[in-house]
Amino acid sequence: MYAITIPEPGGPDALVWAQVPDPEPDPDEVVIEVRASAVNRADLLQRQGNYPSPPGIPPYPGLECSGVVAEVGAEVTGWRVGDQVCALLAGGGYAQRVAVPAGQLLPVPAALDPESAAALPEVACTVWSNVVQLAHLGMGETLLVHGGGSGIGTFAVQLGAALGATVIATARAAKHEPLRELGAAHLIDYTEADFVAAVRELTDGRGVDVILDIIGAAYLGRNVGALATNGRLVVIGLQGGRKAELDLSALMSKRASLIATTLRARPVAEKAAIVRGVREEIWPLVESGSIVPVVDRRVPMAMAAEAHRIVENSDHLGKVLLVNEERPA
Ligand SMILES: NC(=O)c1ccc[n+]([C@@H]2O[C@H](COP(=O)([O-])OP(=O)(O)OC[C@H]3O[C@@H](n4cnc5c(N)ncnc54)[C@H](OP(=O)(O)O)[C@@H]3O)[C@@H](O)[C@H]2O)c1
Repeated sequence: MYAITIPEPGGPDALVWAQVPDPEPDPDEVVIEVRASAVNRADLLQRQGNYPSPPGIPPYPGLECSGVVAEVGAEVTGWRVGDQVCALLAGGGYAQRVAVPAGQLLPVPAALDPESAAALPEVACTVWSNVVQLAHLGMGETLLVHGGGSGIGTFAVQLGAALGATVIATARAAKHEPLRELGAAHLIDYTEADFVAAVRELTDGRGVDVILDIIGAAYLGRNVGALATNGRLVVIGLQGGRKAELDLSALMSKRASLIATTLRARPVAEKAAIVRGVREEIWPLVESGSIVPVVDRRVPMAMAAEAHRIVENSDHLGKVLLVNEERPA
């Protein structure tokens, strides 16, 4: 098969479409004939040599895919050759085929075309596990989503609105209108305005109940400043650095919580539990059209370098898909 390889870490042109060995499934795995994968910001780090695949995972980038089940391991139940699926991966999605533990598979929702389904597993699992499972966002609460125009952000905005929360998102002005259509009640242009002051004004000084943060160190103190009493700050990205000082008394006086997670490093059993939760709680929202995958554009997988350039420049809204040509069965 062919896959996107990284012979030498570097810029987008480090991504090389090359012939590689076909995957062999373990007994608890299936092999997917990949229809599409999607670019995640973590793939850019992997390309630069800073976020390698965990041991035992294919070295090619790609944290999610959609496609058709081509092989089923001896211990797998519930899935058959020919099933249309999408999957949460620890790597290896930028390929024609990938082996994945069966617990990380989801059916392609009937409401979606098989390619668009590739835009969902990573964001659905990340956002649901953090915002719902850990931060317990509830109806009537307020959610602040940093980077509303990102793959993660476009999903979080829709999920927050679907759960009955008031969603505030930060994004560059060009992305405000589509985010409003996705369910954001208020938008803050973080390049112009101080989001803490804006949040205070929008919430009558109360602050927000939950923050989904992708910036990390550069926003830590200000995020705590924007929290309401009993607020939950969930850090899932470090685009603004990893080391910061925090005045803990600010957290204590608000009885606030700080949560920080990564999905890729979680054990297979934990990923399977998250995927089950997503299937139960999120897939019905996708079937009903309350949540849609936001696909900015589709790029042939062999041209992954072009897709990385787009994401690196933040020229996209939502997800950039990498699509394999349909191959005869
Ligand atoms: N922990 C986990 O398990 C996990 C899983 C998945 C993703 N993530 C993280 O989630 C983040 C988003 O991933 P993605 O693939 O969805 O990213 P993406 O589509 O590449 O989007 C990146 C976003 O960052 C925004 N941004 C940059 N600087 C900002 C600032 N100062 N304030 C607010 N927004 C800012 C950009 O907004 P504008 O275009 O408006 O400037 C852009 O929308 C990444 O940091 C990624 O590592 C973590």
